[in-house]
Amino acid sequence: MAFFVAIGTFVATGTFVAIGYFVAIGALQVMDVFRILWGIVLCIICSFGAIIRWVYPAGYTKSVKGDIVLITGGGSGIGRLMSLKLANLGAIIVTWDVNAKGNEETVSMIKANGGTGYAYTVDLTSKDKIYEVAEKVKKDVGVVKILINNAGIVSGSSLLETPDEKIIRTFQVNVFAQFWTMKSFMPDMIKNKSGHIVNVASMAGHSGMHKLVDYCSSKFAAVGIDDSIKVELKVQGHANYIKTTIVCPYYINTGMFSGVQSKIIPILEPDFVAESAVQGIITNKPEVILPWWSCFLITAKTILPQTGFMYLSEVFGFNCSMDQFKGRK
Ligand SMILES: NC(=O)c1ccc[n+]([C@@H]2O[C@H](COP(=O)([O-])OP(=O)(O)OC[C@H]3O[C@@H](n4cnc5c(N)ncnc54)[C@H](O)[C@@H]3O)[C@@H](O)[C@H]2O)c1
Repeated sequence: MAFFVAIGTFVATGTFVAIGYFVAIGALQVMDVFRILWGIVLCIICSFGAIIRWVYPAGYTKSVKGDIVLITGGGSGIGRLMSLKLANLGAIIVTWDVNAKGNEETVSMIKANGGTGYAYTVDLTSKDKIYEVAEKVKKDVGVVKILINNAGIVSGSSLLETPDEKIIRTFQVNVFAQFWTMKSFMPDMIKNKSGHIVNVASMAGHSGMHKLVDYCSSKFAAVGIDDSIKVELKVQGHANYIKTTIVCPYYINTGMFSGVQSKIIPILEPDFVAESAVQGIITNKPEVILPWWSCFLITAKTILPQTGFMYLSEVFGFNCSMDQFKGRK
């Protein structure tokens, strides 16, 4: 207890000294000081809000019945599972995938459960195709209310062994496609004052890994897209009705990362990830980190000296987790 009081006193004193300094040099006005104090109170209120939402999610749950949900990469893995779960909640699913067979299977499964779904074969590496099919979806199905950018690919080789084409493709699917889908569907969300943009990134968007230079950097970019669109929506006055959720899971047992080894953090089950993501969406959670406690690793990485963190990563086996990687055939 005394430790936390000491840390709290240290942080509070530091904050007041910093604010006093900025007022003294004229960078902040007296009014700004009151706004900063209100900001601190707001952070505390929001922290309590997050705890209440965690304990009592039902109080925060929104209905997706009749909403059109467009999901990329719905032809397998967690994309398929999220599609099925959202369809069970009454959403109309539009799934985009380059894998026509898997995509059609997902829609058949949705229909077999009594839901509504539409499959479109889209190669997300093509900007023109994305814009073209987006217009088709608007005409055929209607206005997309929830956009889930989920499709992703991984090379799984060290930088010098990864062909240029694979690096480009990774960025086309994992990053650029998100720009084109958001540009396609956000205008309707703004016009109708209602929408939700979901981005399935990864813990690899917070921490670098061996043999994942292209993948991690694409996921860092995905985290950056979410972070900055949150700010843009707030500044432009749309944040009250367009929600955003970033999903950052650790390795999942879907086959995409088959062969990976994990010493400390258990490899996640696809159903758990899909269920957590759907719960995050329907409760408007800004961020879903899985497992939740790996947020402490992100914090540790930010505050620990780089050499120390690198050593701990070796001890915990993070740096060799990709040694046996096979991936999808
Ligand atoms: N599997 C993991 O360990 C893991 C961990 C963290 C994050 N993720 C992320 O979760 C998301 C889903 O992964 P998953 O494990 O379900 O993988 P998955 O391979 O089962 O699903 C990815 C889907 O994306 C589709 N896709 C790939 N390239 C495409 C393209 N050019 N155009 C259209 N569709 C394309 C695939 O056909 C596939 O259906 C990905 O963004 C992935 O990076 C996965």
